[in-house]
Amino acid sequence: MAPPMAMGPLVPMDAIWRILKMLAREHPKLLLLGYISVFGAAGFALLIPEALGRGIDETLGDSTAGTGALTRLAAVLAFAGIARGLFSFGQTYFAEALAQRVAYDLRNRYFDKLQHLSFSFHDKQATGELMSRATGDIENIRMFVNMGAVRAGFIAATVVGVSAAMLLTDVPMALVSMAFVPFLAWRSAVTSVTLRKTWLRFQQHIARMIAALQENLTGVRVVKAFAAEEHERRKFDGFSRLAADTHFEADSNWARNFAVMNFGFVLSLGAILWFGGKRVLDPGSGFTPGDLTAFFFYMGLMFMPVRMIGWTVNNFARAMSSGQRIFDVLDTPSPVTETPGAAPLERLRGRVTFDRVSFGYQGFGTALHDIDIDVAPGQFVALIGRPGSGKTTFAHLIPRFYDASQGRVLLDGRNVREVTVESIRRNVGVVQQDVFIHTASIRDNIAYGNPGATMTQVERAARIAQLHDFIATLPHGYGTVVGERGVGLSGGQKQRLSIARTILLDPPVLILDDSTSSVDVHTEHEIMAALDAVTRNRTTFLVTNRFAAVTKADFVVVFKGGRIVQRGTHEQLLAEGGEYRLLYDSQMRPYLGEQAQALRQVPNTEAAG
Ligand SMILES: Nc1ncnc2c1ncn2[C@@H]1O[C@H](COP(=O)(O)OP(=O)(O)OP(=O)(O)O)[C@@H](O)[C@H]1O
Ligand SMILES: [Mg+2]
Repeated sequence: MAPPMAMGPLVPMDAIWRILKMLAREHPKLLLLGYISVFGAAGFALLIPEALGRGIDETLGDSTAGTGALTRLAAVLAFAGIARGLFSFGQTYFAEALAQRVAYDLRNRYFDKLQHLSFSFHDKQATGELMSRATGDIENIRMFVNMGAVRAGFIAATVVGVSAAMLLTDVPMALVSMAFVPFLAWRSAVTSVTLRKTWLRFQQHIARMIAALQENLTGVRVVKAFAAEEHERRKFDGFSRLAADTHFEADSNWARNFAVMNFGFVLSLGAILWFGGKRVLDPGSGFTPGDLTAFFFYMGLMFMPVRMIGWTVNNFARAMSSGQRIFDVLDTPSPVTETPGAAPLERLRGRVTFDRVSFGYQGFGTALHDIDIDVAPGQFVALIGRPGSGKTTFAHLIPRFYDASQGRVLLDGRNVREVTVESIRRNVGVVQQDVFIHTASIRDNIAYGNPGATMTQVERAARIAQLHDFIATLPHGYGTVVGERGVGLSGGQKQRLSIARTILLDPPVLILDDSTSSVDVHTEHEIMAALDAVTRNRTTFLVTNRFAAVTKADFVVVFKGGRIVQRGTHEQLLAEGGEYRLLYDSQMRPYLGEQAQALRQVPNTEAAG
């Protein structure tokens, strides 16, 4: 076997074994019916040359036989034909039923796995790449189950059955006819090895191409804003060309193999005619014209399966690489895993504690150093710091989006690692920095975490988030479809929709990550009003740049370079100086003169130029 691919520890053949094991364990009945059909179809197909050969000798070789024998022959042929047809139908039917079930199953397992893998997995994987596995690779596995796992049985049964029938009829002739089989087997093996590598490469190119396409579509506004269409086109073209070339390479390899096989087959027909003719003419051989006819039909029966050997090899090769890509994901352990027997959290009172917590993103340096903090239930904490200082990272450890590398995160005194993830997420609501809006009605977007919510509850949440008045102005109100294919929302509206979505869950611990937005005075006012309502009766962490919001906090935590460098109330921190003072001044100073001075200088420069 070829060495394992660079992708993972899985050996390619393992993927095939796993698919076969899935079939045997999960769908034994369908598999059995498939194989009964396979053997039935092969068996009745074999009956046809035998009956024809015998019929020819009996009716044509013997002038006394009469028409009775001919009628019998016709009846036998008709019966064999019908039976073969029925079994062939069964073969296709059960093979496809099995293939669809496996594809459906794998798709869902794959989707499920992606849903449950934690943030750090998705940090590293390109979305489009993962999408191409869900479509292209699963499709390859489906074709393998159909062709490779079931109908390859037909090929094997036919080849073995035909060989046996020929040997029973006439040994020297059988040997002549089958002389080409070892050659074909060798060709297939060689082709299989090269094709598997080519298909794996093809799959990777396609995945990269789809990833490029997906990124381009998601970021289409950036592309246009920077007039980067040409750059994007070249990038896509590169992947697309590689994919086309690799597919072509595989195809031409396969076609060469196919041509060689066809040639071998025609040669064997010539050999049968040559040797068989001589044996028929030799009265001592006992080889009849009927036998010769049967041999031609036997070879005819072999033709299709032998051609399909190449096809199956191809199919097998694709399934090996695709199976590997799917199982690689299915086998990825999630960094955030539940302790066996973890108990769910009851509704929290809201104490949040970090006990000497450090954290680093996989493959990067430490992002948080030695964080100690203890927040009492109901407190409102503002997190402030420069971009990249670790605020979002800190906030993401509370709902266990990531696990601390060192130290403990506690909710009401219980380690988050020892309770169920689902119960944490129910207790900790997060309004993320990047808001995602689903293509759905506003109502459904707000009720995302609680689809059973009543309209009154949804409306109440929207009111608290200061979004209700805006929704009322929309043509379809709460039924208005928003998101990618619906009405566009402004940054501030998206954010408030996200707040409404979280409020509806009424979580005892709430995280609002709001460090990006700079909004107009009116929106600012609305968000502040929302904040008052939202923070009531829950522990709230607010990541923000807005000092107006900070003044409402019970205390402020200042981050710098992944450490907490200061904590206290707004007034205390202002008096204390240090990082907080710097941040405050840098935000306030433009209004206090520097900007005014800068503005005053503009006309001068222009006058000079
Ligand atoms: N998914 C990630 N993988 C690797 N490094 C990351 C990841 N997310 C953030 N970082 C790094 O961790 C550090 C802290 O980032 P974080 O997002 O917590 O900053 P922040 O304080 O929230 O910044 P901002 O105010 O801009 O939102 C940064 O150096 C950032 O580059
Ligand atoms: Mg952030």
